[in-house]
Amino acid sequence: MNAEIGFVPTMGALHQGHLSLIEEAKQKCEFVVVSIFVNPLQFNNPDDFAKYPSTLEADTLLLEAAGIDMLFAPNAEEMYGNAYTETGINFGSITEVMEGSSRPGHFNGVGVVVSKLFNLVQPTKAYFGLKDLQQVRVIQQLVTDLDFPIEIIPSPTLREPDGLALSSRNARLTTDQRVIAPYIFKALNNVVDELGEGVTNAKAISNATDYLNFNGITTIDYLEVVDSKTLQPVRNPKKNTELAVCIACFVGNTRLIDNLIFSLD
Ligand code: PAJ
Repeated sequence: MNAEIGFVPTMGALHQGHLSLIEEAKQKCEFVVVSIFVNPLQFNNPDDFAKYPSTLEADTLLLEAAGIDMLFAPNAEEMYGNAYTETGINFGSITEVMEGSSRPGHFNGVGVVVSKLFNLVQPTKAYFGLKDLQQVRVIQQLVTDLDFPIEIIPSPTLREPDGLALSSRNARLTTDQRVIAPYIFKALNNVVDELGEGVTNAKAISNATDYLNFNGITTIDYLEVVDSKTLQPVRNPKKNTELAVCIACFVGNTRLIDNLIFSLD
């Protein structure tokens, strides 16, 4: 059997969430490659790109300790030359919702850079976190539709003990903002619990919105229940289908996303 080459693409500012993907890759693959590249093409907001944390030295130490085989950390010129790719990728309906509609061009940027990375690294397996559920579905569609010979492995979301999903963006939260951020996870759980108790979707979402507002999270980009595979909104959640409740909201100036995958039984 040929050796498995496991690939974990990242934008650096590594945390335990990234390391959990690397751990999974190490368990299944003889050779593990990690990339660190803050991809300008996927940032629709220049300020978000400018503020994206860069901690390459600390990241390198973490990766050495994790025992990976290769780090690929190109700069923008190495990845794109002097100009961005003219080629774009249209993913259709899966990117017309949530992150796709809130961040125009984002998934084109993700699709282009991940395709380039796949061609450069040529892995047999690639690991993506379910924290970015829509990204996982986009990449799964990419490899299916364009026949990349790569198995995509979705990996569970790692959380702080208080439920806050680990994210490089959490480093931007002030002490006060860090205290309220875990209400995001609590609100998602409330939606799942209420749907389980027979509360209507609209009511469960409006209750969770009130709960977030009350706790200081007042700018909610979206909060909705979707089909976990197609990501299309589900108005009347049914039993025995895999669903996800997904959120993007601002805590101060920091935009955070999270989701829970669930089914009603
Ligand atoms: P980045 O945000 O650095 O995330 C790299 C990988 O780590 C992604 O697959 C993401 O879903 C996963 N991840 C982030 N937080 C996680 C958590 N709390 N638990 C588990 N996994 C987590 O996603 C990107 O970079 C970029 O879009 C990229 C795919 C590298 C393309 O530029």
